[in-house]
Amino acid sequence: MASTPSTAPPLGTTTVSIDLGDRSYDIRIGSGLLDDPDSYSGLPRSGTALIVTNTTVGPLYAARLTKALQSHHKKVLVVELPDGEQYKDWPALNQIFTTLLETGSDRKTVLYALGGGVVGDMTGFAAACYMRGVPFVQVPTTLLAQVDSSVGGKTAINHPAGKNMIGAFYQPQRVICDIDTLDTLAQSELLAGLAEVIKYGPIADVEFLTWLEANLDALLARDRTALRHAIKRSCEIKTWVVGQDEKESGLRAILNFGHTFGHAIEAGLGYGQWLHGEAVGCGMVMAADLSSRLGLIDAATSLRIKALVERAGLPVHGPDLGADRYLELMRVDKKAEDGEIRFVLVGPLGQASMRAAPDSVVREVIALHTGPR
Ligand code: NAD
Ligand code: GLY
Repeated sequence: MASTPSTAPPLGTTTVSIDLGDRSYDIRIGSGLLDDPDSYSGLPRSGTALIVTNTTVGPLYAARLTKALQSHHKKVLVVELPDGEQYKDWPALNQIFTTLLETGSDRKTVLYALGGGVVGDMTGFAAACYMRGVPFVQVPTTLLAQVDSSVGGKTAINHPAGKNMIGAFYQPQRVICDIDTLDTLAQSELLAGLAEVIKYGPIADVEFLTWLEANLDALLARDRTALRHAIKRSCEIKTWVVGQDEKESGLRAILNFGHTFGHAIEAGLGYGQWLHGEAVGCGMVMAADLSSRLGLIDAATSLRIKALVERAGLPVHGPDLGADRYLELMRVDKKAEDGEIRFVLVGPLGQASMRAAPDSVVREVIALHTGPR
């Protein structure tokens, strides 16, 4: 793995594979992949394909994807969902099912998720459910989706009582990450994606953390070589983890570093108020401090993680929900067991594990990192 800017690999298409037996697939990363028919070679050639996208991404990229897919499918349909985390819900999911049913789509129909993590998670869940399972392909167009949500088969919608609570594990047939699509991404969304990139360092790869510290400015300036390396390394780490623990019976939970606090921020404020990645960024600062207070890393290491999150332009101070509300929300996290909150904690740096923590220490973290300033 590269440790300095000069050793990053040259731009071109690269493939990361995930080994899950008969559910294995490739993640292709590069420029110009969206329009390249080769990106889709070997995928099922059904009569119908349905591109699921949203009202923002559809007008930008759906026509190009439709054109590229025309040699693979007789009929290429598009459904545009409303844009936003607040629409990661039953009515939007039902819109996909209604389109499939009204167009007579059969069980060979291939769904293409064209968009960020919201579209990807919902399309995957729809694919898992429609006629008890149809194939789907991820075409992620946000940094967050390219480095995390499109890989590994977690699909879900939100419930007002908890984030991603209704869903299924269902793997795509392929992931196609066209770096060029990031050109149109708002800067705030790029930063949100960087939060999920940053998380891989503390939990799995200190060298990558050091690389990120050295290359953060290039990433913020959307340098393609730097982006390509960050996406590739993130996907390598994610596939390494998911390949060992697809259904999250243990190890996979480390990918949720920062997410226990982060999900509480998202649910507590109402979905869509903070971007998911923003909440994860702040959540990582809180989880790093908790790791330090429990003696798993030293205070300097916790501050090192905070400094990177802050330099990435992500929030490091959470909203004033009150400690009781934070604790209440964290108790409905999927990692909670019998009402006991389980946090992903770092220690030593580059390794993570899931642990419970005394409420009193969690309250100290909440008091320091949230509320009025
Ligand atoms: P998102 O899907 O809401 O996309 C962010 C915004 O960018 C949206 O407004 C979208 O329309 C817009 N957009 C997308 N691509 C664009 C492009 N190329 N140009 C211009 N605008 C574009 O958010 P996200 O950050 O991609 O994903 C967050 C979601 O992912 C959350 O719901 C989270 O729970 C989920 N997630 C899932 C996993 C998983 O393993 N399944 C992992 C991490 C996050
Ligand atoms: N983003 C967490 C996971 O895929 O497990």
